[in-house]
Amino acid sequence: MSVYQATVSAPVNIACIKYWGKRDTKLILPTNSSLSVTLDQDHLRSTTTSRADPSFDKDRLWLNGKEEPIEPVGRLSTCISEMKRLRAAVEAQNPSAPKLSTFPVHIASRNNFPTAAGLASSASGFAALVASLASLYDLPATPSQLSLIARQGSGSACRSLFGGYVAWEMGTLPDGSDSLAVEIAPREHWPDIHALICVVSDDKKGTSSTSGMQRTVETSALLQHRIAQVVPARMDAIKDAILRRDFPAFARITMQDSNQFHAVALDTDPPIFYLNDVSRAIIALITEYNRAAGAIKAAYTYDAGPNAVIYAPKENIKEIAELLLRYFPQAEPFADPFSLGVDNHGRLP
Ligand code: PMV
Repeated sequence: MSVYQATVSAPVNIACIKYWGKRDTKLILPTNSSLSVTLDQDHLRSTTTSRADPSFDKDRLWLNGKEEPIEPVGRLSTCISEMKRLRAAVEAQNPSAPKLSTFPVHIASRNNFPTAAGLASSASGFAALVASLASLYDLPATPSQLSLIARQGSGSACRSLFGGYVAWEMGTLPDGSDSLAVEIAPREHWPDIHALICVVSDDKKGTSSTSGMQRTVETSALLQHRIAQVVPARMDAIKDAILRRDFPAFARITMQDSNQFHAVALDTDPPIFYLNDVSRAIIALITEYNRAAGAIKAAYTYDAGPNAVIYAPKENIKEIAELLLRYFPQAEPFADPFSLGVDNHGRLP
């Protein structure tokens, strides 16, 4: 008897131009385009195995060994049913293909980075889920086509279907068919940029991206300015910086956009605070490091939490890690030589 099973992994991505705000919450259509770098270290990945079997009684999913419910109209079930729909189209074209679209699936996903790293795993998680089903179903889909489905799991997941430098073009169509990820440049175009991840806190508390975005869209005037006046020009400028491998331009835009995203969070009513004192101290340190060098040698960026990601040319990473260790002596590198646990309680996460 044939076994229908596939295993695929997908990496985490960290945005330089932040996605924040949905214009359609069901289809997950954003209010602005965004751009990220997919981290290619082996240990910042989700690996997902999908198996289709007519003897299974229903679709089921396990995350890091623990079963998670698949809610009937939730994001997981949307992604799974969209993938089954694509498979059914393949079967309709090829009547001898096994009817995998009618079999229930069991999906097991694991993150190989510690939950304590405080990194959002939904991006790599939904990208790996969609990619493993595409492999199981032997779909002729491109990463951009798959990004349309991963986007409906978690917006930022659509960018993890590509390595390297990736844009999520917001699109204009109401059905979302042009809101997809595209590769701006492969990793090999500019392999020199590395990411140093500083875990400031592994606390899970805070405002989720879903509720935070909704509140920002409803209440922030600054968000309206950002999406109409700021992001379109920034998207063009950062793509250009990447294509020219211009680190100072890339870094300046990355830091400006992180700052504006957190300003927009603060402009939300009631305000959302994602940064803490340690996050702000790291901003001050990187700012001073660049000022003292008389050149931009590093860029910080923060997502919806206090943890810093520092982008820098590889040659500067050691110096930056040493600088951080000098000012945060309680920090210790963990897992990856380029990851630091900068824990504000003086202990490793
Ligand atoms: O995809 P979500 O819902 O986890 O939202 C991600 C939002 C940010 O991480 C703050 C920005 C981004 O573009 O990744």
